[in-house]
Amino acid sequence: MQFPVKRGAPASQKTACAILPLFENGPLPGATREFDTATDGQIARFVKSGNAGGAVGRTALVYGLNGTAAASALLVGCGNSDDFGAKQLRSALSAAADALRNTGMRDAISYLAYADAADVSAYYSARISVETFRSTVYRFDELKSRSDARIKLARLGLPVADAEGARESRRGAADGAAIAAGVNLARDLGNRPANVCTPTHLASAAQAIANDYDNFEIEILGEPEIERLGMGALLSVTHGAEEPARLIVLNYRGAPASTAPIALCGKGITFDTGGISIKPSAKLDEMKFDMCGAAGVLGTMKSLGELQAAINVVAVIPACENMPGSRATRPGDIVKSMSGQTIEVLNTDAEGRLILADALTYAKRFKPRYVLDVATLTGACVVALGRLYTGLFTNDDDLAARLLAAGQRSLDKAWRMPADDEYGEAMKSNFADVANIGSRDGGASSAAHFLSRFADRTGWAHLDIAGTAWLSGASKGATGRPVPLLVDFLLNV
Ligand code: BES
Ligand code: MN
Ligand code: ZN
Repeated sequence: MQFPVKRGAPASQKTACAILPLFENGPLPGATREFDTATDGQIARFVKSGNAGGAVGRTALVYGLNGTAAASALLVGCGNSDDFGAKQLRSALSAAADALRNTGMRDAISYLAYADAADVSAYYSARISVETFRSTVYRFDELKSRSDARIKLARLGLPVADAEGARESRRGAADGAAIAAGVNLARDLGNRPANVCTPTHLASAAQAIANDYDNFEIEILGEPEIERLGMGALLSVTHGAEEPARLIVLNYRGAPASTAPIALCGKGITFDTGGISIKPSAKLDEMKFDMCGAAGVLGTMKSLGELQAAINVVAVIPACENMPGSRATRPGDIVKSMSGQTIEVLNTDAEGRLILADALTYAKRFKPRYVLDVATLTGACVVALGRLYTGLFTNDDDLAARLLAAGQRSLDKAWRMPADDEYGEAMKSNFADVANIGSRDGGASSAAHFLSRFADRTGWAHLDIAGTAWLSGASKGATGRPVPLLVDFLLNV
């Protein structure tokens, strides 16, 4: 897909379709008014006759606009003009893409954010437009014998008012395309079933990033090397699985070696049966998504490869299956983590924190400025926040502010949750340094506290994406979150 920046009077731009905003209140906005003038009031007559309107998500396709260079116009309801910000822009554009899906049109120009119609900067409106469009056309059909129908639209013009707007829009479109590439990789990896997306497959995906872009180095560790590192927590999770585990270390160096990197640790459980503490069957297929932390981190690395940003980022991804079996870890088994701390595995289904404990310890060797871990860690986080917000846990207020702001800007929101030391009390063990579960209450916070034992006090944050990494039901599939949040954070760090 291409997103050319367009300058000049809207009504004189040649296109198959001009996407124009309509509000429930006030006069016709910028470009819509220019079209109305050029067509001698055709648009206003449409609205007046009730054939188009400003209700959110309502669309009307109009052909035969006399006096303009556009073959058609799509009038998109955008609600109240005072509320029209980034989020509403995204919904409107997504409604527009749906309306154009079956028209066979190959190109369009979006005037939804033109001339102050939206309260969004030129940079962000271009970025959001590109991201939204790319994700609306996303399909996962690689495992179907016949591919799904694809939208024909290959070019979406981004109109700008002046040279400054053109520069900002180009920058926004480039960042949006890079984010979309990362989101789409995260979605593909998440959507692939566990018999395809194995730890080895995740390692190949990381290798592909290292091959395709400049400034990457990669190391893929197998079980003997993981054992030599003393990662007993990670090994205890993979013990019941035939499928071999991997530790993926993907290093992006966009800044001088003297610049401390940001470390990203992503939970890569390619299937979570629960192990001996086995899960019930309902929706168990969705535990193929338990590697979405890894997918989000790899997606973010791909975006960085596209952007060639001037930072250093190292991804540390522990990847394995959590299976039952005669070799599987039993409840009550005590394992020694790479940090030296011993862990009593009271519940083999609390496995994400075990593999991340060793990944967080490993990440310390890079002396990172920040360490973020990303994980589909707890059902409790889904209960607390639903599917709207990713759970953010950190004891570093400055880092929390940065991540929350990145989430707001990128429309990939996080909500801060507590991880105080008191949450650790329920995880005391009579037999080991710590147990891997506490009480059911505050489960997302006690899981976060467990992780904090393996990270430094400041500079560490945990993102629980259990509720946001995928959707269930009719629209079942990976969302690619939190790639937009992470990339925005890294671009502004
Ligand atoms: N991968 C799950 C968390 C999960 C469950 C995410 C459902 C999304 C939907 C994780 O490994 C897990 O099983 N967590 C347990 C922890 C418990 C045993 C303390 C959970 O949340 O039930
Ligand atoms: Mn589990
Ligand atoms: Zn899990």
